[in-house]
Amino acid sequence: FSRRQALKPTATNVGELVDDFSVLLQHTLGETIYLQKQLAEALPPVLVDRNQLETSLLNLALNARDSMPRGGRLIIRTELYRKLANSNSFTDLPAGEYLMLSVRDEGEGMTAETISRAFEPFYTTKPAGVGTGLGLSMVYGFVKQSGGGIEIRSRLGEGTTIRLIFPVVHETPSQQQQHRLRLKQDGQQAQVLLVEDDIGVRQFVQRALHKMGYTVDLAENGDFAWEKLQQTKQYQLVLTDIIMPGSMSGLELYSRIRQDYPETKVLCMTGYSEQVDSTLSEQHLLRKPFMRNQLAHKLQELLKAEYA
Ligand SMILES: Nc1ncnc2c1ncn2[C@@H]1O[C@H](COP(=O)(O)OP(=O)(O)O)[C@@H](O)[C@H]1O
Ligand SMILES: [Mg+2]
Repeated sequence: FSRRQALKPTATNVGELVDDFSVLLQHTLGETIYLQKQLAEALPPVLVDRNQLETSLLNLALNARDSMPRGGRLIIRTELYRKLANSNSFTDLPAGEYLMLSVRDEGEGMTAETISRAFEPFYTTKPAGVGTGLGLSMVYGFVKQSGGGIEIRSRLGEGTTIRLIFPVVHETPSQQQQHRLRLKQDGQQAQVLLVEDDIGVRQFVQRALHKMGYTVDLAENGDFAWEKLQQTKQYQLVLTDIIMPGSMSGLELYSRIRQDYPETKVLCMTGYSEQVDSTLSEQHLLRKPFMRNQLAHKLQELLKAEYA
């Protein structure tokens, strides 16, 4: 949607964001879609709202998946793009250095008509109830507000490439260091126990927690988590999946922790469609798939709260 939203642009390493996010993305896309990353090394950062960039990637990936009903390859690529003054691409942008993020699929492609209308809000070729026509217009709005550009390359039967470019920012080394420090301080060195049976989600969340500065211990299910708690007792927070193999579900773990370790906060992760027990308030709930920022925000809120 191209309506103006409050963006919080920060200097962002897009390759790193793609790398982190791809784990959850692959999980969301399912097994018939093979996600491939082609990430250039040592690209300069760009100034974008990370949340919106993640949401954009998700929208592009879901479109790619929809175009490949029998499965196929989805390629996410980052590279440096030097736009020349006389270039035929991205003609509305000044010449200069940009970071290009492209999402390519091997799907059914688009007609010229669809290409020309794809960014329009509510334009969709999908059946009612499936398409909203809001995915690409959201991405378009975000890219434009970030000072970037977006182009579609597609032909019917030959797949689609959506190319986004963002102006690069050249940070000095000390700015970069400050940036990293700020990220670290968010975590306040809290000790977190992460309880999750799915290895993909576990790795994604573990890396995200590390980057926020948390110290992370892992448990593969509720039973192991309970053992760890009894041995260690010093977790400020337990982040747990709800449905896991073993004798103790996340919900049960949650109520036992509240009873025996009231100082320890608990945040439960759950799939979008799962019914959640009404004993669990929104404060203690994080719906999957979630973005790194949403996780960071939830954790900070919960750790700040006196009674939770
Ligand atoms: N990767 C793609 N491959 C083929 N067609 C696409 C792709 N991405 C977008 N489209 C076309 O653009 C239209 C608009 O996309 P979007 O704004 O995300 O809305 P929606 O996905 O809800 O239809 C889609 O209905 C489809 O026709
Ligand atoms: Mg869409």
